[in-house]
Amino acid sequence: MDKKQLRSQGWFGKKGKDGFIYRAWMKNQGIPAHQLEGKPVIGICNTWSELTPCNAHFRELAESVKNGIYEAGGFPVEFPVMSLGETLMKPTAMLYRNLVSMDVEESIRANPLDGVVLLCGCDKTTPALLMGACSVNIPTIVVSGGPMLTGKYRGNDIGTSDIWNFFEDNRSGLMSDEELYVAESCLARSRGHCAVMGTASTMACMVEALGMSLAGNAAIPASDSRRKALAHLSGNRIVEMVKEHLKPSDILSRVAFDNAITVNAAIGGSTNFMIHLLAIAARIGVELNIDDFNTSERGVPLMANLQPSGKYFMEDFYYAGGLPALMKELDQHLYNETITVTGKPIAENYRNSNCYNRDVIGSIEKPFNEVAGIAVVKGNICENGAVIKPSAATSSLLKHTGKAVVFENIEDYKDKIDDPSLDVEEGDILVLKNVGPRGYPGMPEVGNMSIPKKLLDRGVRDMVRISDGRMSGTGFGTVVLHVSPEAAIGGTLAIVQNGDVITLDVQAGTINLEVTDEEIARRKAKWFAADKIAPRGYTHLYQMHVEQAHLGADFDFLKGSSGSEVVKDSH
Ligand code: FES
Repeated sequence: MDKKQLRSQGWFGKKGKDGFIYRAWMKNQGIPAHQLEGKPVIGICNTWSELTPCNAHFRELAESVKNGIYEAGGFPVEFPVMSLGETLMKPTAMLYRNLVSMDVEESIRANPLDGVVLLCGCDKTTPALLMGACSVNIPTIVVSGGPMLTGKYRGNDIGTSDIWNFFEDNRSGLMSDEELYVAESCLARSRGHCAVMGTASTMACMVEALGMSLAGNAAIPASDSRRKALAHLSGNRIVEMVKEHLKPSDILSRVAFDNAITVNAAIGGSTNFMIHLLAIAARIGVELNIDDFNTSERGVPLMANLQPSGKYFMEDFYYAGGLPALMKELDQHLYNETITVTGKPIAENYRNSNCYNRDVIGSIEKPFNEVAGIAVVKGNICENGAVIKPSAATSSLLKHTGKAVVFENIEDYKDKIDDPSLDVEEGDILVLKNVGPRGYPGMPEVGNMSIPKKLLDRGVRDMVRISDGRMSGTGFGTVVLHVSPEAAIGGTLAIVQNGDVITLDVQAGTINLEVTDEEIARRKAKWFAADKIAPRGYTHLYQMHVEQAHLGADFDFLKGSSGSEVVKDSH
């Protein structure tokens, strides 16, 4: 290709003092001059960190990407960005998703890159990197790190979703502390991200369904040698994408987002999918709103028998044919001409694929559940909407009226949930306030509250639960999440009281507080915001600018793209 067309030549192709400096300092890494003379420079945006165990193998994965880039005639440069590990970060990794997206956006734009490979794994690393890259819009391809191998505990297959069961069993005396200790070494037994269809796997499926990765990216286990081969091929492909000027905005059309929503329903993907996809769409300038996620009208059934909605694990999904085999079944529901990173229609990703295990990937005629996807519910308790994952809920609770048992915040919940004097009965509805984007802050995954111990002892395993927080993609239950507006900004959730009656009707798409409008207005008039804005630092910025869940919880000033042009050049 004509090297004048390369963005990187604005640095390495420059004459005079500036060009001298740009090249000279790169050469301290032992880079020979010819590598900087007109080859596409490809950034490898790496979320490797030993504090993000799901991404701890990414240095090795980056080497495979580099081999592919060199082979195709490009020049790779690996760079770090802040990593987001779901298990260790406090108060919640979601607090930092937007910060990482800014890191990614500015790192790409500020440097001599012609294209970028995003190495994504643990939950938030995928949306954060994609959001940042969309706001620059140079050729981009995603390589996911891949799921762990299935956990094995005393002859049983286990994954992250089992943690919730283990601890309910432990609380009710069915599992000892010693057994928990043993299980701890059996669950995360290989490199990679969570092995169920949690948020990380959902995000990996999302990028493949959007067309932002090569086919097969979603499910190849992290420790399978084919993961490295896919990384190598992605390195090959990004160099070609630079030559073809194939950018995210060419791939991420409105119908690509529709495909992702359809696929998410069929895989039983995480509720977090909605919040991240809304944010990505807003970055690339595609109109998408919460009602577009109501997949019941699409007639898409649940076709992946994977935990937490089903039985199997991501490893099984890969061996059964992976996402291409599932998408082939969905063909009639997909916009199959939309292009992907290959520059070809997405149907070419799956047309020749096969399903090797119908117990893992159902057919469109014989799905695992007619109920799939995310249901959006609205009502006086959440005028802007809330979400529930019906396939992970108890079907008899999808239409339910009950008395509210209210927790004012997470501390109040922790204090009371196991208190024998808590006034709660089996048919009641647990309500948790102030765990939304601004209120917590960061919207943690606490929406699937534990069942009160006194009910657990009676064998109760599910209740309707409502909050303005999120739920781990590995969680399950009849859990209404993302209530918007959140309690901390005076949404109706803030004025729900113990004993109020709430009616949920998922099929009708409604959730209402059975209290008169006059009474709601009277309570709201007395409500005042507790001043909980952090006085300084990133948390202050976050609380001042984070949007509500139904808009994707991005910062109000980050929507859209600033392009790749560097406005000022100080050298
Ligand atoms: Fe990283 Fe589950 S903790 S994907």
